[in-house]
Amino acid sequence: MQMKLKLTVAAAVAVAAGVAVAQEVVVKIGHVAPMSGSQAHYGKDNENGVRMAIEDLNAQKIKIGGKTIKFEIAAEDDAADPKQGTAVAQKLCDAKVAGVVGHLNSGTTIPASKIYNNCGIPMVTGAATNPNLTKPGYKTTYRIIANDLSLGAGLASYAADTLKLKKIAVIDDRTAYGQGVAEVFAKIAKTKGVEIVDQQFTTDKATDFMAILTAIKAKKPDGVFFGGMDAQAGAMLRQMDQLGLTNVKYFGGDGICTPEIIKIASGAKSLDNVICAEGGATLAKMPGGVAWKAKYDAKFPGQFQIYSPYTYDATFVLVDAMKRANSTDPKVYISKLIETDLKGVTANIKFESTGEMKNPAMTLSTYAGGKKSPL
Ligand code: ALA
Repeated sequence: MQMKLKLTVAAAVAVAAGVAVAQEVVVKIGHVAPMSGSQAHYGKDNENGVRMAIEDLNAQKIKIGGKTIKFEIAAEDDAADPKQGTAVAQKLCDAKVAGVVGHLNSGTTIPASKIYNNCGIPMVTGAATNPNLTKPGYKTTYRIIANDLSLGAGLASYAADTLKLKKIAVIDDRTAYGQGVAEVFAKIAKTKGVEIVDQQFTTDKATDFMAILTAIKAKKPDGVFFGGMDAQAGAMLRQMDQLGLTNVKYFGGDGICTPEIIKIASGAKSLDNVICAEGGATLAKMPGGVAWKAKYDAKFPGQFQIYSPYTYDATFVLVDAMKRANSTDPKVYISKLIETDLKGVTANIKFESTGEMKNPAMTLSTYAGGKKSPL
């Protein structure tokens, strides 16, 4: 009799505990960016945005399908390498994450988007800008910033119409991003009467640009466009100083639009000549930018680069679709993504039928005086 009672109590405790566990369901959201190598600072910033979003979402105790959801990040490093990008995409498919925020580089995001489409997992990038990302028309691919058609056009107009430059040399790092944005810039600059006096190539690992800069110097350009990231741009600016190219304007897309470029350029006079474009508004003009940034800085001091407000919003975009579908199952909630109408920190987010952001902002900035300021 006593034995039976004990068992009953134990069973009751187990049932009670089971019910408590069953009511909170863990849902994984993948994040991928370069977390190692010369682009790790961008990756860290992007991942921080997702971590902050998950913390804020979990504080809301969101109920989906009658269960309280505990979101967790499944964080991966693609090292900005296209092969590693597809390998981790497959890993996240196999892990059955509910959605992915990423990737950061167009070179990894484009091939990874095919993998996510094959396994039916939605991805929202807040950083990859090559327009080709949305060309295949995958229902799993979304972008919440402007693409390089907008960045390249904004920079070309500024160079030709505002600064009235006539001769520009173009360099790119041969990545999907660098090559793509340089092509858009050159094409539009040419239609505005700019002569592309030289075209040089480097890589996203290079540190020595003396040979290509010497070749460019001989063509006497009044501007240089660089399609690539800040590790290369910062070193290039120092080497432009060494070659006396300090009166040449220096253009680039969002990849060079970071605070890190100031550190890497380490006092180069040429930093003053930098004009970069990014596919969104300044923090001051974002609907929730200022308060968000103060919170970010308190949590992750000195780590802000560029895309974390977008990766924060991208996480909310996924969860908002889950809420509207009342399901965390990608097969169920995916159809709700295209109907997104979300007041984010960065903007009011809606999508075109292609998965591109509707009416994204674009901002040009300079580094005159060694400080990034919007034009
Ligand atoms: N916008 C950059 C890219 O697309 C980071 O690779």
